[in-house]
Amino acid sequence: MKYSFNILLVLLLSVSSRVGAAVNIVPQPTHVDENIGVFTLKSGQSIGYNSAQIASAATYLRTALTRATGFNISTRQGKGTISLELLTPGDNRDESYTLQVTPQGVTISAFCYSGIVNGIASLRQLFPPELESQTIQKGITWTAPAVEIQDQPVYHWRGLMLDPVRHFYSVEETKRFLDHMALYKFNKFHWHLTDGQAWRIHINKYPKLTSFGAWRKPLPDIDQQTESRAKSENNPTLLLPRKYFRTIDGEEKYGGFYTQQEVREVVRYAAQRGIDVVPEIDMPGHNWITTQCYPWLSCGGDGNDPLCLGKQSTFDFAENVWSEVFRLFPYEYVHIGGDEVYRNRWQRCADCQKRIKEEGLKDVNEYQAWFTKKMEQFFNKNGRKLMGWDEILEGGVSQTATVYWWRGDHPDVAQKSTAMGNEVVVCPTTYCYFDYGQDNQTLERLYTANIVPTDLTSEQHCLIKGIQANIWCEWIPTEARMQFMVFPRALALAEKAWTPTQQQSWSNFKQRLSDQLLRLSAAGINYRPLETDIK
Ligand code: ACM
Ligand code: ZN
Repeated sequence: MKYSFNILLVLLLSVSSRVGAAVNIVPQPTHVDENIGVFTLKSGQSIGYNSAQIASAATYLRTALTRATGFNISTRQGKGTISLELLTPGDNRDESYTLQVTPQGVTISAFCYSGIVNGIASLRQLFPPELESQTIQKGITWTAPAVEIQDQPVYHWRGLMLDPVRHFYSVEETKRFLDHMALYKFNKFHWHLTDGQAWRIHINKYPKLTSFGAWRKPLPDIDQQTESRAKSENNPTLLLPRKYFRTIDGEEKYGGFYTQQEVREVVRYAAQRGIDVVPEIDMPGHNWITTQCYPWLSCGGDGNDPLCLGKQSTFDFAENVWSEVFRLFPYEYVHIGGDEVYRNRWQRCADCQKRIKEEGLKDVNEYQAWFTKKMEQFFNKNGRKLMGWDEILEGGVSQTATVYWWRGDHPDVAQKSTAMGNEVVVCPTTYCYFDYGQDNQTLERLYTANIVPTDLTSEQHCLIKGIQANIWCEWIPTEARMQFMVFPRALALAEKAWTPTQQQSWSNFKQRLSDQLLRLSAAGINYRPLETDIK
């Protein structure tokens, strides 16, 4: 057979680019040495682990390596073709890892479970993009380039928040979300489980919260308007999924909830991928459905927002709910919400006014702060730490609460909170609200922004726990639409949270992104193409 010179050149270039230029990891690792050769994954190879503490990481890696290859890969304690090594003495806060890929095998070593799964995320990205496919892919040589990577994150809080209240996401959809989080080294899943429109977590002591509160007739605003938009834009990803409709007492209702068993399964799945789950039970505002279920929780029993804090029965309710939540979520941090409370309602409630007087509080801001502090004491008694949206600052906050800076039009929140000694999660609307619309500049604006304020002292900067994006789902009824809003923005955010600022490069990120978009496609993710007019 005769090849023209040009064809030979193309063949040569394509082979060499497969061998040499395949390190496109996001977030950019701190240190990468590229070596000669490749490791080839084959059926019959094994994953070894040196400690029972990381056995579950080996199982996770096996899933990631067999889903698309269809290979038979075993896991076992001891050495394997791919070895996971927990180094001693271990430090749970040290998320660093070393990943060595040679033609003979792969080793990931780290000081704790999180470090091992961070190494696994990088390894997943060294194989061809088709590795992320949910079905078996034939005819692919599963090679990873020989490298030595030493890597560690800048921030220990790399979060994504999902809101399954406005529109429900099943356990299966939530798990897919978690798996994609793990691929980009996100390690905190903030699960917004309750809000005005629905209650999504079953609470044994208050079953009506889900038997009634998880189901609604489609609402004129977020449901019907979204469907109108679906029709006018001919966009099926904006249609309310039929699978979440049920006939209840002769009426068509929309919704769903997680049983406690399902919550445990999500928490287990996340933990296996090194992700802590932070449950949010929003109090005392955003509780319209709660007070519809149990009107005695509202001021004057009127079944309206917010919770009435003037009655002991509200505190009993809150403590009972949280006690069940604590049993389901092992992570020490829990989120009380605290945002956008209609505090004026308390001005007109005799029980609330009596309480405000008895406690010597100046105003309704101090009244909410008093509630939050009491709840924090309860959390602490149960070994938990309180987090809340930045409104918890108003009326005074305890120094041990973590503040989520979300209001982009309050630019001094991080500065003020850290000056008082409070830890902060940075997630301002300006950059970190992934439900906000996108245009073709959004990604670059996010990537090149100073999301964390630059005017903090080094002591204050130590109190910045990290960065998070929030995905509020009022206008996001389906998994496909959610993916369109989240990807590839989440990859830019992942790099902002992981990679040192001086190593962040927009042009370099964009180059690596092309390989990542192939990965997202292979995974079946409906990401937003870089050049599109679709909003
Ligand atoms: C929020 O967006 N209400 C925290
Ligand atoms: Zn009241």
